[in-house]
Amino acid sequence: MEFSIKSGSPEKQRTGCVVVGVFEGRKLSASARDIDRATKGFVADVLRRGDHDGKAGTTVLLHCVSGLPSDRVLLVGLGKEREMGESAYRRAIDTAIKALRATGATDATFYLTDLGLRKRDTAFKVEQAVLGIMEGVYRFDRMKSKPAETKRALRKVTLHVARRGDIAEGEAAAARAMAIAEGVRLARDLGNLPANVCTPAYLAGEAESLAKHHGLHCEVLGEKELEKLGMGAFLAVARGSRQPPRLIVLEHRGARKKDEAPVVLVGKGVTFDTGGISLKPAAEMDEMKFDMCGAASVLGTMKAVALMKLPLNVVGVVPATENMPGGNAVKPGDIVTTMSGRTVEILNTDAEGRLILCDALTWAERYKPAAVVDIATLTGAMVIALGHVATGLFANTDSLARELVQAGEASWDRAWHLPLWDDYQEGLKSNFADIPNIGSRAGGAITAACFLERFAKAYPWAHLDIAGTAWKSGAEKGATGRPVALLANFLTRRSA
Ligand code: BES
Ligand code: MN
Ligand code: ZN
Repeated sequence: MEFSIKSGSPEKQRTGCVVVGVFEGRKLSASARDIDRATKGFVADVLRRGDHDGKAGTTVLLHCVSGLPSDRVLLVGLGKEREMGESAYRRAIDTAIKALRATGATDATFYLTDLGLRKRDTAFKVEQAVLGIMEGVYRFDRMKSKPAETKRALRKVTLHVARRGDIAEGEAAAARAMAIAEGVRLARDLGNLPANVCTPAYLAGEAESLAKHHGLHCEVLGEKELEKLGMGAFLAVARGSRQPPRLIVLEHRGARKKDEAPVVLVGKGVTFDTGGISLKPAAEMDEMKFDMCGAASVLGTMKAVALMKLPLNVVGVVPATENMPGGNAVKPGDIVTTMSGRTVEILNTDAEGRLILCDALTWAERYKPAAVVDIATLTGAMVIALGHVATGLFANTDSLARELVQAGEASWDRAWHLPLWDDYQEGLKSNFADIPNIGSRAGGAITAACFLERFAKAYPWAHLDIAGTAWKSGAEKGATGRPVALLANFLTRRSA
């Protein structure tokens, strides 16, 4: 997709489709009014006939409007003008792109980026438009025998900004957003791939090809090396599977000061989670192919960081494995020794994410990191707590938590800070080992974070539980690419 930024009146655009907004109650936006005037009240006529009332999520497509050089006009409902906020804006973009895809237009000009949004600048509106449009045109048909659509595709989008003076800001934002959209697309593709294709070795190959094409450094460790490092918890999870595990390391060395302490991103890469011997029920188990979405978000973010050439050192670490109930699988009650030397009693083999992450967190110490952020589809309890809107955020350093909350707000890929008080550590007691891998069911997302916290003492650390946000279920089943936008924003601010 090609994006450009322009300021100029809608009634003069020679384009496949002009996209303008209408507020609820048939109130025209400024651009819709311009078109209405140039067409001698045609838009107002359409509204008066009752074909469109500006309700959010609705559109009307007008063809060959006389007096306009554009082929089509798409009226997009914006909802109530008073309630025009970030979510309504994103919804308008999503609605528009969905309707636009159903047309034959190969190019379009959006007059939505110029809508007034309280406390949001042109850069935000352009970035959200680019991300929303790229999200809307995304299809995953790699596994179909033939592509589902053969229709002419939208290739060029022009985003309108209110003033000439906004063009430079808009262009910079569009370029940044395209890099992030590339990262989001990679994360979605990897998440959507079935687990018989997307294995630990496949993820490693993907990291190697990212390194080759985008100037990153990549290192992949296999079973032998993991044994030598003493990653007993990670290896315990991998034992039940025929697929050998991998520890994937990707480095972006962008800092002006070469030896600057890096930010380390650690992504849970369970390419399929059956639960192991503590086997999961059958319903919706297919969705456990998404249990590597943390890993996918790390690879996606590394791609975005490389494309943006951020002046920052960033390391991506991905422990990748399946969690299977093979004959050699770890059993409830088994005790393993982690890389840190501490022993863990595995009371439930389905709490495997924390087992692979604890060793990866110990590995991360070697970078003397400025901060470590892990990203994991860690607990079903997280979905119960925050649903599918906000990612759960935990941290051992408040300033780092604040940075991530702000990055989430700024990128509209939001996270919510939850407590990690000592009181919650109470539940993690084992009669036989240093620590069990499960605590109380109550506050399950917090107990999981408490477990990780014990292995993250050497640096400022945060944990993002993306169990509710990494993918959608139902008719729109598929990976979302979250939280690539949040992470890219966080790293961009760090590099400034
Ligand atoms: N990958 C799952 C978490 C998960 C479940 C994410 C459903 C999204 C939807 C994780 O490995 C897991 O199984 N967690 C257990 C932990 C429990 C055994 C303490 C859970 O949440 O049930
Ligand atoms: Mn599990
Ligand atoms: Zn899991």
